[in-house]
Amino acid sequence: MTRAIGIDIGGTGIKGAIVDLDAGELVSERVKQNTPEGGEPDAIIDTVRQIVDELISEHGGDDVAHIGVCFPAIVRNGRTMSAANVSDDWIGLDADTLFGEALGRDIHFVNDADAAGYAEAVYGAARDQRGLVIVTTLGTGIGSAFIYDGVLVPNTELGHLELDGDDAEHWAANSAREREELSFEEWATRLTRYYRHVEFLFSPDLLVIGGGVSKQHDEFMHLIDVETPIVPAELRNNAGIMGAAALAERHAR
Ligand code: BGC
Repeated sequence: MTRAIGIDIGGTGIKGAIVDLDAGELVSERVKQNTPEGGEPDAIIDTVRQIVDELISEHGGDDVAHIGVCFPAIVRNGRTMSAANVSDDWIGLDADTLFGEALGRDIHFVNDADAAGYAEAVYGAARDQRGLVIVTTLGTGIGSAFIYDGVLVPNTELGHLELDGDDAEHWAANSAREREELSFEEWATRLTRYYRHVEFLFSPDLLVIGGGVSKQHDEFMHLIDVETPIVPAELRNNAGIMGAAALAERHAR
């Protein structure tokens, strides 16, 4: 059994677990803490260290070699290069090295939507799908992952596609639905506009919709009027953890 630790850093919570990468399932409890106020790198490193320590000492992770961490930013060669919904201190930070030193282990940093999308392609809704799969996560922002014949093309950032002079995530993310108290019908009209644009630009073979709201897919997915087959994500809350763990192990090979 190949195991790795996956850590998912979000705007409100940071969660981690040990993942069995062959079976594609969590083999420990999920350890969760609130994201420290302000989301500064030092405070987040500290929280991640506590979560990893707990996984190692209390959940049998002491012989796990690889740790993957996913985070809501562009990640290039281990550096976080943007900060759409987190502290600006992350821009240009050498996160791989900083986290690696603080935790005394090799860390592999990746974008949160890339992690979630990769997990869906390997273990979830897009398993065995050929061609281009576009996974989008609808949350505070919109995250995206492109997987072509099983290969991840990282940092696609489709939440920042500009339509009518504004980033799509400002008016089509789940946070916009909540903020503006949109009905699912109203929100689906915006999502149709957004996904039609994505469809026109990239001609995907499958669209997967993830993010916390995807568990309510019955309420809105059938209202999104696009040509491309569209399915809900399957791994829900665990997608980030599983994808971060899987990408860390693959990176180390
Ligand atoms: C960020 C992405 C992230 C997405 C989902 C966007 O605002 O730019 O990097 O993947 O939110 O968290």
